This record gives sequence, structure tokens and C-alpha cells, in this order.
Amino acid sequence: MEWGILPMTLVLGIESSCDETAASVVQDGCTVLSNIVASQDELHTEYGGVVPEIASRAHLERILPVIQEAIKNANIELSAIDAVAVGNRPGLIGSLLVGVAAAKTLAWTLNKPIIAVDHVIAHLWAPHLSGASIEYPALGVVVSGGHTSLLLLTDPSNAKCLGKTIDDAAGEAFDKAAAILKLGWPGGQRIDNAAAKGSPVHRLPRPKTKGNRPDFSFSGLKTALLYGVRGNPSKVDGKMIFPHSPEELSTQEICDWASSFQHAAVDSIINGVHNALSNNPVRCVVSGGGVLANSLLRTKLTVTAEQFHIPIHLPESTYCVDNAAMIAGLGHYLFTHGQRDSLSITASPRGIAS
Ligand code: KG4
Ligand code: ZN
Repeated sequence: MEWGILPMTLVLGIESSCDETAASVVQDGCTVLSNIVASQDELHTEYGGVVPEIASRAHLERILPVIQEAIKNANIELSAIDAVAVGNRPGLIGSLLVGVAAAKTLAWTLNKPIIAVDHVIAHLWAPHLSGASIEYPALGVVVSGGHTSLLLLTDPSNAKCLGKTIDDAAGEAFDKAAAILKLGWPGGQRIDNAAAKGSPVHRLPRPKTKGNRPDFSFSGLKTALLYGVRGNPSKVDGKMIFPHSPEELSTQEICDWASSFQHAAVDSIINGVHNALSNNPVRCVVSGGGVLANSLLRTKLTVTAEQFHIPIHLPESTYCVDNAAMIAGLGHYLFTHGQRDSLSITASPRGIAS
């Protein structure tokens, strides 16, 4: 079946891989008729990170109202959808299962096809939702709270993983850095805002992994920030005691540390992108994930693509974070290319880049 042969195809997308419960109706892969995202930030704030059991329970409570709202906002009847697309991998297993169960139930009761979608590859559909025309092969750059991966895409759905993080994801590192600086959670936007008022006066490491693969490592950078801010610890009765506390820092010092961290994290990502572009001839760079909301990363990625004389496609801010429009959009592409999954599909914590 050829791309675009089905006019006015409506796909309902469902996303529940981490802590956003989301549903969206997308027409013909790119026109977003509705995009509902129920964030759980307030439930996880006191723990400074996503608690899987709390996340899956919250998905259970929210999934049906979120789907209903997506259908209502799209101004369609539920029976008008042509297929149900669901992010079934990778992610938190208990969270994924809620979306998968809802999608299967809808597909079965409506007698519509179900399409299983890889969440990480779907992040790279985001620029399509703003009308980007993407030529392949492309270098996919996914930077989020759960993933930091470089993918070689031969088309929107076929990806080979060139490199990924060997420990923390970049977004996770931003969240931990914000915790060290007592800026709150989630931390990415807070580090970005603080960095805008600071300067990168501290030299933090740009960790490199061994070998030629463009892999990433962010846990050493986080530790370097911790020791930089609080001094070298000593062990007393098995406990790490730091000579300084972040409360001793002035607002300007916090902003300078945030800026120094942001520069180091972004440079690490850019080094990997540079390596991947040097070794893989591609026609463009396409990017997605929550950390693409970061101002410095957007600027430096744009400059890097320019150095290689290729265009870059960045997601607009609404589609950086986890959402179901990207699932429905890639789901539409797969649907029009003949993918039909069985109702026996299940969720998997692993995907192309994990
Ligand atoms: O894509 P996403 O919603 O979740 C995953 O799929 O993992 O990304 C969330 C991540 C969080 O770690 C958050 O701190 C980070 O994206 N983030 C940012 C910014 N806005 C959100 N990181 C850096 N700078 C930002 N402006
Ligand atoms: Zn994501």
C-alpha cells in the first residue's frame, strides 16, 4: 500500500509509557485534531522522580477520561476512527500495560486495527506534526527523560541504533542536576531558566565512552557537579559527609552552576551527533524528546547541522514532551504501509534503543 493512498484517515493514538497519560486524534498522519496530555508531575514531585507504582495507578484512573476528551476535542464519534495506535515499547512495564489494555479493548470493541508503535522512534515523528518534510536517510536524535539515542533512519519507522547512553539519560541528568542545586523537579526547564541568568564559569567534564560508537554517559557529569557544588565528601560511619550545602550558594552562583552543567551536557550530546554525522551520510537531522525544549541544545544542534550542510528538523515545544499525537502520526504511517498487529500484542520495557 502506498503512503497517502487512504484519504482522511483518522488514527487514535494512546501513550502511557512513563508519567504522562495521553490520547490524540490525528488525521492523515500530520493534522492534529486533538492532543490531550494528563501530566502526573504533582504526584511524583515529593519523590524527586517517577515512582513506577504510582504512575501505573494514575494511568488507570486517567486513561478513559483522557481518551474521551481526545475524541470530544477532535469533534468526532469514536466509531469514526480507522485505527488505534499505541506506544507499547519501551517504557515502564506497568504504565505501558495500561495503554496497551485500553487500546486492545477499543480495537476489539470497535473492530478496528491496532498498530503497535515504538515510543522512541515516535518521538522523531514530532516535526511532521508541524508540517516538516523530512528526507531519508536521516540521523534521529532522541533526547528525553528516559532515552538519549542516535538512530539511523532509512524511513520514519526503520531505525538502527548508532549509539545511546550507557547510564543516565540526558533528561534524567538535568533532573538530578536540578535536585543538587535545589531547583525542584522536573528539573530540565528549571536548569534552562537558571542557566539563562548565569555563565559557564565552572569547567565540568564532557564524558566520552570507550570506542568509536557515539554512546553517551551522564552519571559522571552529575557526580562532578555534586562534588563541585558541595566539595569533596568524607566518609563518617559509612555516610558521605559533604563540607558544603547548596543553601550556601547565592542565586548567581546557582545560575552559574546551572549554566556550566547545561553547557557540559549539551556538548556531550553534540559530540555524539558530530561523530554520527561524520560516519553516516544522511540527508538531514530529525530530533525529538523532552530535552529538545532546551534552548542551548536547539541552538547547538542547528549550528552542527549547518556545519554538515544539511537541514535540521526540531519539534515544536508542545510535541517535545511525551504525547500521543506522535504515536498516532507514526501509527498512521505504519497503518498506510500495511502494518496490522494482533490483539495478542503486549508491552515491552525494551525497544529499538534500549
Ligand atoms: O520526553 P519526555 O517527556 O519523557 C521521556 O520520554 O522520558 O522528557 C522529559 C524530560 C525530563 O527529564 C525533563 O527534565 C526534560 O525532559 N526537559 C528538559 C527541558 N524541558 C524538559 N531538559 C532540559 N531543558 C529543558 N528546557
Ligand atoms: Zn518519551
